[in-house]
Amino acid sequence: MAAPLPSGAGPRRVPSQNGRLSVEVVIVPDAKAGGALIAGAMADLLRRTPDALLGVATGSTPLPVYEALVAQVRSGSVDTSRARIAQLDEYVGLTADHPESYRSVLRREVLEPLGIGMDAFMGPDGTAEDVQAACEAYDRALTEAGGVDLQLLGIGTDGHIGFNEPCSSLVSRTRIKTLTEQTRVDNARFFDDIDQVPHHVITQGIGTILEARHLVLLATGEGKADAVAATVEGPVAAVCPASALQLHPHATVVVDEAAASKLKFADYFRRTYVNKPDWQGI
Ligand code: F6R
Repeated sequence: MAAPLPSGAGPRRVPSQNGRLSVEVVIVPDAKAGGALIAGAMADLLRRTPDALLGVATGSTPLPVYEALVAQVRSGSVDTSRARIAQLDEYVGLTADHPESYRSVLRREVLEPLGIGMDAFMGPDGTAEDVQAACEAYDRALTEAGGVDLQLLGIGTDGHIGFNEPCSSLVSRTRIKTLTEQTRVDNARFFDDIDQVPHHVITQGIGTILEARHLVLLATGEGKADAVAATVEGPVAAVCPASALQLHPHATVVVDEAAASKLKFADYFRRTYVNKPDWQGI
């Protein structure tokens, strides 16, 4: 007779997300393929849950995702008319109509092309007089909205997600953060000169981000290779905030070949993905 299972062990402990308990790394040929894969996952989610809350990031990396999702909407293969959008982070001090406020960027690159109105959008107020209260209000609003279903993330060269810079608490909530000089330099390309890049941002905290039901991080280009390796193969440590994805039951890291170039286990990740049944998705 088989030994009795220790209490709490056994099939009932298998998580609902197809047994996922580690970060899944998917290596794609290029940014376009990464965008198509993630847009496909978003479209699948919207077909199951038309009013899903999609958490979106800004910056250059997610653009191929938005382009691919817009193409799907235009071809009629998915309907985003009931989708809801939640912002990940925002500069402090840029007015909502400043072209580089993340609210403006998201309106331009996500909401308008997808035909989603501002009534289905939520984001922190980067111009609030009481920034702390605005952060707490946004954190609460996310919970009251039922939580984010799929959170798309980029990654900074220093391993930040949202604007949780190195040494952010892994249980942090939405709050004000100071950008590192490296991040200001990285983001200066969106402004006329670096002096215009704000020093402060509001960002969902790492604890807040971890509450989303599915985390999908996209990283492209060699400049992200060290951060990606630290995220999935390094220890869970505040020095690399993205490593907190290792604590999430359903986290997917999609990387192009260049961003995967420093992964020791790249072949293993490739083999795992190739042998995964199609129905499982990411
Ligand atoms: C912005 C955000 C950041 C960016 C990161 C990478 O909303 O969440 O974490 O994803 O700074 O930026 P790009 O994609 O421009 O390299």
